[in-house]
Amino acid sequence: MAIVHRKAETVPAAEVAVRPAEASDLATIVALDTEATGLSKASYWKDRFAWYASGHKERFFLIAEHGKEPVGFIVGEVRAWEFGSPPAGWVFAINVKDDARLHGLGTVLFDALCARFRKAGAKTVRTMLAKDAQVIMSFFRSQGMMAGPFIELEKRLA
Ligand SMILES: CC(C)(COP(=O)(O)OP(=O)(O)OC[C@H]1O[C@@H](n2cnc3c(N)ncnc32)[C@H](O)[C@@H]1OP(=O)(O)O)[C@@H](O)C(=O)NCCC(=O)NCCS
Repeated sequence: MAIVHRKAETVPAAEVAVRPAEASDLATIVALDTEATGLSKASYWKDRFAWYASGHKERFFLIAEHGKEPVGFIVGEVRAWEFGSPPAGWVFAINVKDDARLHGLGTVLFDALCARFRKAGAKTVRTMLAKDAQVIMSFFRSQGMMAGPFIELEKRLA
């Protein structure tokens, strides 16, 4: 896998702390997502924030912080018995600020979420991504994730 565009050292992973997201992080979350996707989805993130940052013991919205500056986020939850699966942690979204990437921050966020999944009783972590999303594929592969036992089916609705 090629696609590495290493940036100047800006945020060393060892200096990053992970904490639960707060309402005041919402604008940064929207900005980070806009930076990555080119789409601004304020009401979508407000809705997702209400779900994942509600304090529910199996839902997590975490922020990576350097000093007082949020530099990334990860979102996920433990889901049980979907498609007959025992409790599993689902990574719903991950994002690291563009100029802070490739310094281990994504890994710090992923590890922090997995630790919470384990504590909540999950034995597996899952996610879903587009087949051609090479950077995120490379990232999840680097975390030891492989094809799982489920497949996605879909049909175009007329
Ligand atoms: C995916 C993402 C979160 C990774 O964050 P990061 O802080 O750069 O990740 P890390 O530094 O911990 O990288 C860990 C490993 O992932 C792989 N990886 C990460 N970025 C990569 C890239 N651009 N090219 C190739 N491999 C990459 C590498 O194996 C890397 O290990 P290495 O640095 O020892 O080679 C970040 O690129 C990002 O926010 N992307 C945009 C948002 C996005 O697409 N989110 C997914 C949809 S929810």
